[in-house]
Amino acid sequence: MNEIESVLHEDRRFPPSADFAAAARLSDEAEYQRLYRQSIDDPDAYWSGVAGELPWMEPWTQVLDWSEKPVAKWFIGGKLNASAWCLDRHLAERGDKTAILWEGEPGDVREISYRELHADVSRFANGLKARGVKKGDRVVIYMPMIPELAMAVLACARIGAIHSVVFGGFSARALRERIEDGGCTAAITCDGGWRRGKILPLKQEVDESIEGIDSVHTVVVVKRGANDVEWDGRRDVWYHDLVADQPADCPPEPMDSEDPLFILYTSGSTGKPKGILHTTAGYMVGAYHSTKYVFDLREDDVYWCTADVGWITGHSYIVYGPLANGATVLMYEGAPTTPHAGRFWELCEKHGVTVFYTAPTAIRTFVRLGDEHVKKHDLSKLRLLGTVGEPINPEAWMWYHRVVGGERCPIVDTWWQTETGGIMITPLPGVTATKPGSATRPLMGVDAAIVDEDGNELPPNHGGLLVIRKPWPSMLRGLWGDMDRYRETYWAKFGDYYFAGDGARRDEDGYFWIMGRVDDVINVSGHRLSTMEVESALVSHEHVCEAAVVGRADEVTGQAICAFVTPDASVTVDDGLRAALMEHVAEEIGKLARPAEIRFTNALPKTRSGKIMRRLLRDVAEGRETTGDMSTIEDLSVLAKLRENQE
Ligand code: WTA
Repeated sequence: MNEIESVLHEDRRFPPSADFAAAARLSDEAEYQRLYRQSIDDPDAYWSGVAGELPWMEPWTQVLDWSEKPVAKWFIGGKLNASAWCLDRHLAERGDKTAILWEGEPGDVREISYRELHADVSRFANGLKARGVKKGDRVVIYMPMIPELAMAVLACARIGAIHSVVFGGFSARALRERIEDGGCTAAITCDGGWRRGKILPLKQEVDESIEGIDSVHTVVVVKRGANDVEWDGRRDVWYHDLVADQPADCPPEPMDSEDPLFILYTSGSTGKPKGILHTTAGYMVGAYHSTKYVFDLREDDVYWCTADVGWITGHSYIVYGPLANGATVLMYEGAPTTPHAGRFWELCEKHGVTVFYTAPTAIRTFVRLGDEHVKKHDLSKLRLLGTVGEPINPEAWMWYHRVVGGERCPIVDTWWQTETGGIMITPLPGVTATKPGSATRPLMGVDAAIVDEDGNELPPNHGGLLVIRKPWPSMLRGLWGDMDRYRETYWAKFGDYYFAGDGARRDEDGYFWIMGRVDDVINVSGHRLSTMEVESALVSHEHVCEAAVVGRADEVTGQAICAFVTPDASVTVDDGLRAALMEHVAEEIGKLARPAEIRFTNALPKTRSGKIMRRLLRDVAEGRETTGDMSTIEDLSVLAKLRENQE
């Protein structure tokens, strides 16, 4: 039994409005088809055209070398600097335009123009050089969402140091593991940053994480929280002292196209985190290109991606992609519901946000909090919405469309990964008629397909494995320090095809429907079911906000479905509701998918970037101890509570 059975039925369709299409960069289906065909049939010509829009220090001589697969080389022989693409290239045309519009959790606001950002990054870069940081060195960045985080990233890029950003919510232990694996020699952090009305003491975590690691010779500390910190005068330096006497001019280091730009760690389901390696030109061309087409940016847009720079979404769609496109980027330090449930919408109204990009987990939280928090605010400037990170259930999609988008904004449901560097499967907002729950079609340059275990392409509407059949510029180049694991994880299964680890199907219109991680697939009586589809059926019930399903061993059916359900606050949780939900799933998708067990919970265990950790729920469902990497869980107490509730 090879296939994943698809049971989700979704017939609603939302073409872009005539107004939106009229103003969009791409608005014509035939034009998308033409560009897409060219990008696949003649990738050299397509990518030369895109790369030619950007300022090279030296031109490339060959677009792609795939002879040493699975390690691609793009734009061979070219020289460039990523920070120059984000900053220097805009100085003449939009030097006074706001690059970063920032709001802190307490409500303090900063506006930084492209000219100012260029000067700040240059001073920062000179300061790092003065501390002996040089091309190829690894610098760990562990900061809250303040402008200096973006500056730190760009300052590293400017001098050719390889940045490794670690999300500020990780523990000292997780940080230490990443510092050691990357062989980092310098760190950039803050005294502390605001989160949910409190100061997180980041410097303290850094101190703990590098205790005994002598290779870290410098810790740059930005003052933000004004909390007390311990100080090691030989190693630690305040950011304001570091940059005080530095000139606002720092010639960007000429980087080879394939020189590393950054490492970013992502957790595997087991074992230690993987250091995903991205190089300079391919990544930058991909980030620039996808931002331009997917977010359809115009000169006067105020663009807000709510991710943290500690994730790939923040790298590609807060820093590199939007800045390479000369956009005004809103950056927000704090939690979505601090000090009140409408904070995100208040920020949208206050700053006139036009393009808004967030995650399904956030959307489901807002559904639960109630429409009134959204409706209090004037969101009429919004023109485009996006989501990323997990499959979005059709009901959450519809809510986003109706309540946030006022039924006028296209939604781009963007499928991609840390490994892919940029968006891969996505609607083009002026072209694609969207279907709730589908990431729709591949972006130009992406040869995506659904195959069976042997690599044969499956016909429409058969669930299988999602692969990418051709290299693309922003693909990862390997895992830091572990190329064997790179080959094993992504290439061993199919050889020539990149295997993403996700299950999906493609419908009769060529639209992709992501069904979740294949590791999570449930096998009931020989039928392989997608977690996404059963969860969507549960969430389509009027009293369910969020659901996660896993398989647990069953003598009769092999696996049985165990569902963890977060109901809305208004409903009484009892056996009646339990029975109603079981019946609801049976009606929506068939008896086969009826959960054998439903457990109610106020919260699901999630990673710090908001993904449901089904691996942990499987342990709970089976009543066994949890093993494996726990460093990425957001809130350990959620897991403890689930175990307590065990019947
Ligand atoms: C999932 C985030 C469905 C998927 C950019 C992928 C999605 C993993 C979507 C990568 C989407 C991301 N629809 N699933 N639109 N976007 N995913 O590395 O399972 O944090 O493999 O990158 O998230 O997560 P990562």
